[in-house]
Amino acid sequence: MLNIVIFGPPGSGKGTQSENLIKKYELEHISTGDLLRHEIETNTQLGALAKKHMDKGELVPDEVIIGMIDSFLDKNIGKVKGVIFDGFPRTVAQAEALKSLLSSYKTDVSVMLNLEVPDAELLTRLIERGKTSGRSDDNEETIKKRISVYNAQTKPVIDFYKKDGKLANIKGVGAIDAIFAEICKAVDAVK
Ligand code: AP5
Repeated sequence: MLNIVIFGPPGSGKGTQSENLIKKYELEHISTGDLLRHEIETNTQLGALAKKHMDKGELVPDEVIIGMIDSFLDKNIGKVKGVIFDGFPRTVAQAEALKSLLSSYKTDVSVMLNLEVPDAELLTRLIERGKTSGRSDDNEETIKKRISVYNAQTKPVIDFYKKDGKLANIKGVGAIDAIFAEICKAVDAVK
């Protein structure tokens, strides 16, 4: 299987580049952020819990997220060529859980694409997106909180994949197509 983790701070282009990857490599996509927003829209208990954290720019508890990934893998492994994990893992505990879940299916992460974008650019992109996105976390105060949560809790995941020999750093600034070309080089190197 070709299993890709697309990683980076809020607004780094994970969702945008996932769309390109899905088309080119015919992979199944899981975005934990999209799944959580769907739970909120459909007024589930999980959605209510997630909303409390997301509106403050905080992470949703690991056990909730890992449970979602577990049931996604259960439904999809064996039926798909590979998976793009978008917005997951976001803590070292999530990265460890993913490794262990995938190993129970005799597979692993193939590559972790780390999109590198300066904070000022992230803020500009997300404030702009907030004008039309309708996302309750796309306002200046919550965006700043999301970036600081990323730096404190999520950035250490980079080291996890570095030690595992799976890290590919990608410069995430510039034209979307040019960034995608760099992404493809990293993916083709592990295919
Ligand atoms: P999530 O939905 O994952 O949001 P995020 O990580 O904050 O990322 P975004 O969707 O805002 O940005 P992106 O990197 O996908 O960039 P995009 O392509 O959209 O998570 C939301 C919340 O859910 C979290 O805060 C947390 O509470 C919770 N959550 C989710 N997963 C979790 C987990 N695993 N554990 C715990 N909690 C979890 O691009 C952004 C903008 O920039 C767009 O407007 C785009 O058009 C533009 N853009 C993209 N590329 C470029 C470029 N090259 N140049 C200029 N503009 C660009």
